[in-house]
Amino acid sequence: MTSSPIIAPSILASDFSRLADEVHAIEGAADWVHVDVMDNHFVPNLTLGLPIVQSLRRATNIPFDVHLMITDPDRWAPGYAEAGAYNVTFHAEAADNPVALAKTLRAAGAKAGLAIDRDTPVEPYLELLPYLDTVLIMTIKAGFGGQKFMPEMLDKVRDVRRRISVGHLDIRLEVDGGIAADTIEQAAEAGADAFVAGTAVYGAADPAEAVRKLRALAAERMGNSM
Ligand code: DX5
Ligand code: ZN
Repeated sequence: MTSSPIIAPSILASDFSRLADEVHAIEGAADWVHVDVMDNHFVPNLTLGLPIVQSLRRATNIPFDVHLMITDPDRWAPGYAEAGAYNVTFHAEAADNPVALAKTLRAAGAKAGLAIDRDTPVEPYLELLPYLDTVLIMTIKAGFGGQKFMPEMLDKVRDVRRRISVGHLDIRLEVDGGIAADTIEQAAEAGADAFVAGTAVYGAADPAEAVRKLRALAAERMGNSM
């Protein structure tokens, strides 16, 4: 693997009363901004939805990595692609027809991502990889920021990485949950090349500097000299 790491700070850990400023704080340092959409059904938590994504899209140029923790993504996900999201990730556990939805997202101009929650095995979804641009492996149970990283989830990362390599697929392999300076290296070593970090970035005194540190740690384990 030779690509450089993607670092995607999650605004879930930011100050929602100053969302645009919080995104500006990581511009230039981060690759994507990770937007956690939660609907109080698929997960117990409730965060933000399409109107906020549309407004925020106008406030910045950084690519949006939208993570939909919602029921019925077949119905709702395309709206986020139309709103200008760079990547739209929906959950395997929630989608009726992941391949059809991925095609719809791509047709709407976005990358298509599939997320695998803590209790979901990845094997049944490996055959869908050719239809996807990103795969997100949860390293916690989806629903809340600030949880403890679960290293046992890295077996799924290894499985997906192996399949990406064997198939020579152009896919970003993302990890989400508890990613910080003390966990990002093991995730990179397992084969992840995109890293979501909420608390580790927005809980830091200097969010942009926190992003740069995470990038350096990941790049080193991915065999890059940065
Ligand atoms: C949780 C979200 C994560 C969350 C990560 O379900 O998907 O993106 O923001 O937060 P940290 O990095 O604090 O674990
Ligand atoms: Zn997320």
